[in-house]
Amino acid sequence: MNVLVTGGAGYIGSHTCVELTEAGHTPIVIDNLSNSSPKSLERAAEICGRQIRFYEGDVRDVGLVEQIITEHNIDCVIHFAGLKSVSESVKMPLPYYRNNLESTMALCDAMTHTGVKKIVFSSSATVYSADNIMPLSESAKTGDCTNPYGWTKYMCEQILRDFAAASSERSVVLLRYFNPVGAHPSGLIGEHPNGVPNNLMPYISQTAVGKRECLSIFGDDYPTPDGTGVRDYIHVVDLAKGHVAALKYLGSHTGASVFNLGTGKGTSVRQMVAAFEQACGVTVPCKTAPRRAGDLAVCYASVDKSACELDWKAEKTIEDMCRDSWNWQKNNPNGYDD
Ligand code: NAD
Ligand code: UFG
Repeated sequence: MNVLVTGGAGYIGSHTCVELTEAGHTPIVIDNLSNSSPKSLERAAEICGRQIRFYEGDVRDVGLVEQIITEHNIDCVIHFAGLKSVSESVKMPLPYYRNNLESTMALCDAMTHTGVKKIVFSSSATVYSADNIMPLSESAKTGDCTNPYGWTKYMCEQILRDFAAASSERSVVLLRYFNPVGAHPSGLIGEHPNGVPNNLMPYISQTAVGKRECLSIFGDDYPTPDGTGVRDYIHVVDLAKGHVAALKYLGSHTGASVFNLGTGKGTSVRQMVAAFEQACGVTVPCKTAPRRAGDLAVCYASVDKSACELDWKAEKTIEDMCRDSWNWQKNNPNGYDD
């Protein structure tokens, strides 16, 4: 299939372009480079031995999106483009609502005008309400989001459900990611957050490489086995393969469907630090710090539905995630600027 990949130069998008190409699909990328480098796509092309067509532009430019769809005979869209920082969204909610909602609606307009009927959307476990029992199944309660970023995902899901309901031929897959980490095993592509990382894995690897002094563990008095927060970390290559499975699913289903992409297993902060130290042979200095506002004690997925209906399962281990993050970090301490 010819697949329009919005936000394809980003962390998850670039890994997905590799997996799409390796599965025989042709990704065509549009990205405004607001949080990425075009070098990610040059490196992705190096991995799969095939150029990836790239358009620098904004998804909100409906005319440009229609032109790309027509020129490349697009069969399906994977919509990664969006702003994703929880903390930034609290400080600047309006750019988050504008970018994330308007880009989704512009894409729906362009699809309507050009007759494209299939779309996969990057949603997040953050749409689940805080009072659910673990593991989170796709039918768990959503809403009561704790930040504007989470609300944009919740609202985009609703927009896309309504978009699917408005025409019987449309097919929408909403993928709720848990905690994507790691990098391609080649060490050529990976995640390079701007400034001080908010997320655990990039903070660990930047501490290990000496860019940060010490990891702050946000809370060690949670009701978990070692008192630190538990999350469902998923290797970005497994996550990317989940999108290839979603494309297959779209080919034989209409309407809107939702799937968790996680491993179904929880790992604590201390367990992750220990796994990283062991897998990479490095030391990660840590100190305990107060709990971070808005954090849950425990969050992990039920993966039964994606195993059963998408025929997809995460295969990589926590050790793979640590080793591949470290391989990327130590070979590219300044990301794509190296
Ligand atoms: P990323 O920032 O690396 O990639 C997003 C890409 O979209 C960037 O390359 C950015 O330049 C581009 N972009 C943003 N707005 C755009 C616009 N209007 N037009 C064109 N391009 C635009 O982020 P990522 O980690 O690869 O995440 C991809 C998607 O998955 C996002 O929608 C994110 O919200 C979602 N998601 C990510 C995580 C995570 O932990 N990484 C978890 C759950 C969901
Ligand atoms: N943590 C630390 N120290 C750090 C960073 C994180 O102890 O420096 C802890 C957190 O307190 C939490 C765990 O590590 O217990 C994971 O934190 P992350 O920030 O890596 O991930 P979150 O689960 O908080 O959030 C992630 C994404 C969100 C997304 C959410 C649900 O960042 O965008 O998963 O999908 F909404």
